[in-house]
Amino acid sequence: MIRLPGLIDVHVHMRVPGATHKEDWYSGTAAALAGGITTVLTMPNTSPPITDKASLDLSLNSAKEHAICDYAQYLGATETNSVHDNVSPSQVAGLKMYLNDTFGKLRLDNMLHWIQHLKNWPVSSPVAVHAEKETMAAVILLAALYKRPLHICHVSKKEEILIIKQAKQNGFNITCEVTPHHLFLSESDIPALGPGFSEVRPILATKSDQDALWKNFSTIDCIATDHAPHTIQEKASTNPPPGFPGLETSLPLMLTAVKQNRITLDDLILRMHTNPKRIFNIPGQPDTYIEVDLDNQFEITEKDHFSKCGWTPFEGFPVVGKVKKVTLRGKVAYHNQKILAQPGSGKNIRL
Ligand code: NCD
Ligand code: ZN
Repeated sequence: MIRLPGLIDVHVHMRVPGATHKEDWYSGTAAALAGGITTVLTMPNTSPPITDKASLDLSLNSAKEHAICDYAQYLGATETNSVHDNVSPSQVAGLKMYLNDTFGKLRLDNMLHWIQHLKNWPVSSPVAVHAEKETMAAVILLAALYKRPLHICHVSKKEEILIIKQAKQNGFNITCEVTPHHLFLSESDIPALGPGFSEVRPILATKSDQDALWKNFSTIDCIATDHAPHTIQEKASTNPPPGFPGLETSLPLMLTAVKQNRITLDDLILRMHTNPKRIFNIPGQPDTYIEVDLDNQFEITEKDHFSKCGWTPFEGFPVVGKVKKVTLRGKVAYHNQKILAQPGSGKNIRL
């Protein structure tokens, strides 16, 4: 049994408001605790999207009542909200800019709008971007020109990680996250997953992209799940939405990489706790830790999971590192597959 700090996931989708049949603040934060995660930062691509005070309150009021781990909510950037009348940046996880196509309608195509946000959002609060390939290179340049830090979400391709490495070497204030699914799956897994169930943004990449992520692991600042639950029925439909659940499988997958000597335990703690805490200004959680059984090998199965989505792309994966117990601010919140935390016991870390 090992003891680790409560983990931080800077990229999850809770589906509140608008799609609580996929996930809600209780099921999503239960999944987080079961995965050893005690703080989640949640994305704004809900319905309606979270882009102003009224929509922010829809998410936060529900979280206040139902969340069982700590949290903050991102604000989504739109063409018209770069001057934030009613929302203070200090109240949210950060600003999220969608610069490529994905699930939901939030997307900024015009670079003038990117610039307005990069200029107006205070440097003390994070800006996270969904920006792939050329788009990523372009927004890194703009962030540098306007002298502000920038966090790149779910890096998946070889050229992306190499550009970020080079940018860091040149002193650019850039950080990035990689998902477990881009580390452990590639396009060669698409046939076995099947259509719909292999749909995710960014798409599963080539073996060479996947190898580049491992080879440049030192360039990766955070492991973030991009937990993006959609139900089995939705994934099996003719127009399947992209996204994989990930909260409950991230730690066992990464601990399996430790067991296989691909990374060290310190590498893991740095990317699943220490760096996210620093980059996103996340306050410490006193008396908070997780206890994990490292000896017991088991197979991932959705049957054990708390997410409402009902499936995992890692079904049957042999892993180590079952989370036995989670203690959050002195109270046992999760023990032996049982949720003990009371709804509403999670705290908004930006209050
Ligand atoms: C995410 C979702 O379903 O909200 N889907 C995904 O494939 N990652 C959207 C996103 O994070 O881009
Ligand atoms: Zn996402």
